[in-house]
Amino acid sequence: MARILITSAIPYINGIKHLGNLVGSQLPADLFARFNRAMGHEVMFICATDEHGTPAELAAAKAGKPVAEYCAEMHEIQAEIARGFRLSFDHFGRSSSQRNHKLTQHFAGKLAEAGLIAEVSEKQVFSIDDNRFLPDRYITGTCPNCGYEAARGDQCENCTKQLDPTDLINPRSSISGSTNLEVRETKHLYLKQRALKDKLEAWIDSKTDWPILTTSIAKKWLNDGDGLQDRGITRDLHWGIPVKKGDQPWPGMEGKVFYVWFDAPIEYIAGTAEWADANGLDDAAWERWWRTDKGASDVTYYQFMGKDNVPFHTLSFPATILGSGEPWKLVDYLKSFNYLNYDGGQFSTSQGRGVFMDQALSILPADYWRWWLLSHAPESSDSEFTWENFQTSVNKDLADVLGNLVSRVTKFAVSKFGNEIPAGGTFGPLETALIADLGARIADYTAYMKAMEVRKAASELRAIWVIGNEYLQSAAPWSVVKTDPEQAQAIIRLALNLIRVYAVLSSPFIPDASAAMLQAMGTKDQSWPHDISEAMRALPPGHGFTVPENLFRKITDEERTDWQTRFSGVRS
Ligand code: MF3
Ligand code: ZN
Repeated sequence: MARILITSAIPYINGIKHLGNLVGSQLPADLFARFNRAMGHEVMFICATDEHGTPAELAAAKAGKPVAEYCAEMHEIQAEIARGFRLSFDHFGRSSSQRNHKLTQHFAGKLAEAGLIAEVSEKQVFSIDDNRFLPDRYITGTCPNCGYEAARGDQCENCTKQLDPTDLINPRSSISGSTNLEVRETKHLYLKQRALKDKLEAWIDSKTDWPILTTSIAKKWLNDGDGLQDRGITRDLHWGIPVKKGDQPWPGMEGKVFYVWFDAPIEYIAGTAEWADANGLDDAAWERWWRTDKGASDVTYYQFMGKDNVPFHTLSFPATILGSGEPWKLVDYLKSFNYLNYDGGQFSTSQGRGVFMDQALSILPADYWRWWLLSHAPESSDSEFTWENFQTSVNKDLADVLGNLVSRVTKFAVSKFGNEIPAGGTFGPLETALIADLGARIADYTAYMKAMEVRKAASELRAIWVIGNEYLQSAAPWSVVKTDPEQAQAIIRLALNLIRVYAVLSSPFIPDASAAMLQAMGTKDQSWPHDISEAMRALPPGHGFTVPENLFRKITDEERTDWQTRFSGVRS
């Protein structure tokens, strides 16, 4: 039994995430967590909401709520939707937790002790009318690069250029619109990432098994001219983690907070501490996942994220960890994803374009979405959601192939032999061939799942469903029953066992359907079919079963066009 630590990039608190966000981090992380639990490993799967930074403050202001209250509410909403999608986090934490405050301040203190923090006096835009500094998105103006008039202080949405608030032409406050601004001196902390370059490079070079998407992004940032800059880790904001050196005040930094990207990844650790707290456990319980001096040296740590998050996880966060000089666990394997596009364009949170997680669940249950998203995960390139493709996948893979097999077999079995697994006949050449074929395919499927090859795993699983259908087609119990009822019983005995095996294999992808299949088969035996021949005999003659409710319904053409229209515009 191995120990597997899994984290998904933590979603921003401001608003409900779209399906593109889901497929790039939380959902494949969940797939991997479920698979590893099914393999009998000890799994710790952590996610959280990313609650600091200007987007949170601005969203709260727009909602007319104090930011703490806004975050608490949005956290509950996101947690509820995560449950709806069956995301099996061991804990869904909050980056604003006291645990994260303490740990973030702890890391900053250690970095300072190691001489890796510089105090820098710099010029920032100050709004006289708002009586505050205007970092990042608090300032709007014209992009010096493309002339777009609503560029934000951290980035131009139009041409994607990264900006500094002082770069903007005709700047104005995003809060009041005031142009009564001046540039003032303010002091900030910088993490001297440059001093850690060699350590980081050696560490990345040691990761020979990482996907190319991950290492190429890391290398690019490491070596490009403006790649590994020393990084400002504080802001002049009210909402956030107060700047402290461990538990000591930090002279000259009063009233300032840490930058959101400094504290957010630390929440992976803090979230595990929150898990321990929520379960009445002591510090040792979470430290054994994170501290190599306290039991974590046999943990393998996997991170899941979209490609835009890779630089922060291959450079910035490792710089925090390595720079602390303490034995914290570094990521062992980083799985990153390209983007999912929506119907000829991009998903966009700011423009409300695409299908958002709550909307998705309001039209169809989680399994339908999980199956489509995972079987089309943007791994080697960007991929695209279209309603046609979604309809085809659901109707063919889920309804025709899997759902139909389950309902045909169980209905036929009940009508001919009653509610118990029939005892007659023996397995012949067709059954032996199916078992051999399944054995080989399950081995491939297991290997893909282990390697986080999400699409390949999905297509292998689909192939496993298909060969069951093909077997039934050739074995034709509905004809055989007329001439050789004993043999028909053997076929059905195998087919009912196949349903249990399918339930087990499919559970990481479609957990609700799997649970329904297991329940119909009257079993809680979820053991992975390592020995397929044995697995096909797990449910013995005489074992009771029932016909489940239809597992999947088809999407009609009418629904498809209706949804296409409904979700073509912009979410208000
Ligand atoms: N909130 C960020 C995003 O959605 C991800 C943060 S991941 C972590 O892009 F590193 F900060 F945890
Ligand atoms: Zn621009």
